[in-house]
Amino acid sequence: MCGIVGYIGDKKAQDVLLSGLKRLEYRGYDSAGIGVIEDNDIKVIKSKGNLAVLINKVGDETIGTQGIGHTRWATHGKPCDENSHPHLSENGKFCLVHNGIIENYLELKKELIGKGYNFKSDTDSEVIVNLFQLFDDGDFISTTKKVTGKIEGSYAIGVIDKENSDEFLVVRKDSPLVVGVGRGENFIASDIPAILEYTKNIYILDDGEIALISRDDVKIFDKAGNRITKKLREITWSLESAEKQGYEHFMLKEINEQPEAIRKTLAGRIKNDLVDLNLNMDDAYVKSINKIAIVACGTANYAGRVVGHLIEDKLRIPVLVSYASEFRYNNPIIDEKTLTIVISQSGETADTLAGLRESKGRGSKIVAITNVVESSVAREADYVIYTQAGPEIAVASTKAYTTQIIALFMLLIELGFKRDILDVATINEWVKEMQSVPEKMQLILENSQLIKNYAEQIKDSSSLFFIGRGVDSVSCLEGALKLKEISYIHAEAYPAGELKHGTLALITDDVPVIAIGTNKVLMDKIISNIAEVKTRGASTYGVGFEDENKLIAEVDYYIPIPRISEALAPLLAVIPLQLLAYYTSVVKGNDVDKPRNLAKSVTVE
Ligand code: AGP
Repeated sequence: MCGIVGYIGDKKAQDVLLSGLKRLEYRGYDSAGIGVIEDNDIKVIKSKGNLAVLINKVGDETIGTQGIGHTRWATHGKPCDENSHPHLSENGKFCLVHNGIIENYLELKKELIGKGYNFKSDTDSEVIVNLFQLFDDGDFISTTKKVTGKIEGSYAIGVIDKENSDEFLVVRKDSPLVVGVGRGENFIASDIPAILEYTKNIYILDDGEIALISRDDVKIFDKAGNRITKKLREITWSLESAEKQGYEHFMLKEINEQPEAIRKTLAGRIKNDLVDLNLNMDDAYVKSINKIAIVACGTANYAGRVVGHLIEDKLRIPVLVSYASEFRYNNPIIDEKTLTIVISQSGETADTLAGLRESKGRGSKIVAITNVVESSVAREADYVIYTQAGPEIAVASTKAYTTQIIALFMLLIELGFKRDILDVATINEWVKEMQSVPEKMQLILENSQLIKNYAEQIKDSSSLFFIGRGVDSVSCLEGALKLKEISYIHAEAYPAGELKHGTLALITDDVPVIAIGTNKVLMDKIISNIAEVKTRGASTYGVGFEDENKLIAEVDYYIPIPRISEALAPLLAVIPLQLLAYYTSVVKGNDVDKPRNLAKSVTVE
């Protein structure tokens, strides 16, 4: 999604803005720009293309010490120089950057054109900056309130006024924005890594809040315009933790961080071999739950499906897992006895946030599983479980997925205990199994050369299938998504037992099939499904326990994982699939961390 950076202090603003935008590149973008106040005017330099193009264009163009910058991921208007941010108001007084979508921008644009305004771009954002001109009454806060009173939709806005070189303003609704506090200088950013090299002290703005930022002060106002005080947070991440730490790509770093990420997610939540998530969920409420809705997108959705299977199997509570983009349009059967679990690494995915609000509006309590403290889903949920995975920079989600599963598994245990379904002995056993996950993951990670070899074998395939049964079929969904999104090879996850009902027609000798088999009861079934595809010429790759000899004998190639209870097997089965996707992408020379067409956090519907 779009990235925003802003600065006011005594440094050259362009240096701070460009370095900040560089740290936001992973968010995915197609153009970039900066606006700097100089001599009571505003210099705007922007262009389609990546930051290198902008840096080249900026050169030593500006010396001003106050400015805003932006990387754009197109939502309205194609990627081009004119549609890049920042945008100037028609009278050149205001300069603005925006992340989000203004849903009523067309009618507002018509109104402004009717008042004689001319537009240079096709963007919704240019409408906002002209509203600042229209409502300009000389007071930044009251002008802003008038503007936000007119616009509908999501926004994180940074705006500078060429006649006011002492302060600039930000306001947010549904799109994230933080204010960084320095000494004699202050910053804004859509994401913490952009300003972490300058300050670890930040304010996280809530929806509707406005911040008026000068060199020595940050004034924050609520949506009614009342001055408020907020807690200044110290970010414990070092900048390096958002860097690659010696790995070639963020994705490989994050795949290898999973053992540590799991340990951090478990930390502080296991006491005397029992789970305590500190949710303070009322026992009577927990007993009243008669349905669980799980709402998420992409990889987060698959994490939900893994544990959704287990909740139904172990707790006998019906579970409805929905793609967030579909959920709110399906008139879902949700009420106060439904517990809704929303899962989102970024905590800002628009569809997931909308699903949260849909459920809340129907009386459901909300648990958010997210990786970002104070993210939008965290702030709007009734209960929050942070996955403690640390910043996940690569667009392809890896450590977020496995920590989401662990977090959800702990929630399952806590619910089962409070509903008197899981006894202490069972919980003790599962807790020990969870605590064994990190070192078992490590064993697979140390065997990655085998997977690198397999990547060489599949790299020229035009299509692959991932097949499995039961919860293994969910691991297939995640494996196929990983491969598609970074290697650009078509891959399809298919329930193994379904192949013969049509899709088997696609299996030929140049279609590799990856079969996941960790379920003892279904082992003979998956083995016969592998035989089915082999007789049609497919080369077969198995993922299963290291001592699964019948499965090993059936496939052409095998990736062993350490034995663990089947309920937790998806945590291990996914590691080879992540690595296979990664190495295939590398060998194909793709941009592993920033794959084409994709963004790290999809904050638009
Ligand atoms: C995962 O590899 C993808 N990048 C994507 O499916 C992602 O999981 C999805 O967009 C949800 O993002 P979130 O977890 O931040 O809500």
